[in-house]
Amino acid sequence: MRQSRRGQVDPFIVMDVMEAARKAEAEGRRIIHMEVGQPSTPAPQAARRALAAALDRPLGYTVALGLPELRRGIAGLYKRWYGLDLDPARVVVTPGSSGAFILAFSALFDAGERVALGEPGYPSYRQILRAMSLTPVGIPTRPQDRYQPRPDDLPTDAQGLILASPGNPSGTVLRREELAALTARAAELGMNVISDEIYHGLDYGAGFHSALEVTDEVFVINSFSKYFSMTGWRVGWMVVPDGMIRTVERIAQNMFICPPHASQVAALAALDCVDEAEANLAVYAENRRLMLERLPQMGFDRIAPPEGAFYIYADVSGLTTDSLSFAAEILEKAGVAVTPGLDFDPHRGARTLRFSYAAATAEIAEGLDRLAAFMAAR
Ligand SMILES: Cc1ncc(COP(=O)(O)O)c(C=O)c1O
Repeated sequence: MRQSRRGQVDPFIVMDVMEAARKAEAEGRRIIHMEVGQPSTPAPQAARRALAAALDRPLGYTVALGLPELRRGIAGLYKRWYGLDLDPARVVVTPGSSGAFILAFSALFDAGERVALGEPGYPSYRQILRAMSLTPVGIPTRPQDRYQPRPDDLPTDAQGLILASPGNPSGTVLRREELAALTARAAELGMNVISDEIYHGLDYGAGFHSALEVTDEVFVINSFSKYFSMTGWRVGWMVVPDGMIRTVERIAQNMFICPPHASQVAALAALDCVDEAEANLAVYAENRRLMLERLPQMGFDRIAPPEGAFYIYADVSGLTTDSLSFAAEILEKAGVAVTPGLDFDPHRGARTLRFSYAAATAEIAEGLDRLAAFMAAR
């Protein structure tokens, strides 16, 4: 069968690493997972209970933009987190933030247009853009800028810009004034801005700011996947400017009909589960402390300041020029799965690795012991 050119996207390497780890586990090995970017905890208890109580209801289609009470609840989160009064009409519930990207790109760009993004960055931005006949334009960022773009780095010939704070893989956070400067420069250049805020809530003292604090002319994307520990539930959201609501609604009606109803019921209850979410955060904070104490001792000492999310991005150019085979060697010899930087940066990622510390603390501690033994024997 003839295949489309736009369908020829690159694999998501971390998914391939997960598959290699799964095979090793099927052969009876115990693998420590530092590759996956997801909590190992279940959805908050009240979320699971809310779903259980709803199971005898029809759980049919909802309206395309999501349950009105959930949209109101999400708007309330903007008050809680940022002190913003957000009109719930601007909140669009989506099938994960991944679904939000598809809606945003469809609403904002025409085929052939160019969308800029920082490198290193979340790999699927680039691949979703390509699958939609859009052209990703990488902005190489610098370690001294915490791997975030500067306003004068923005290309003058692109129609869009994706910002991410905290970033994946870097974990670094854009300050409020940096968000203001970047969005102002993008507006000067006529670029539509999409701000990926999926790791908000997961910060270790640096705080976090929404692009909505500095402009309403932005698509803000977030999700229940990370802070609320609900990756597999596939429920996220997007905040759009007033004038875009109807356009996004029409696309959402046709592309998805609605986000999963069952997950929306659970997500609504999750919004109130602050204690559980904060308990998970305390675990990540301890994991992060262990990582920052021990990784440099074993030679992984060139790392981006991990201000948020649950990742450490390490420059391993002193150790290898081939992060793919280095990660494969670590999996083979240490039984620790880590992600090669090539997933995040097609140019410089052969010299970087990402370590995730989203697992339980005992797992992270054992992973660090194994990594230390591996590095000592090298
Ligand atoms: C930066 C970033 N954005 C978006 C996503 C997609 O998340 P989801 O579709 O589960 O909301 C991820 C997943 O790891 C991510 O790291």
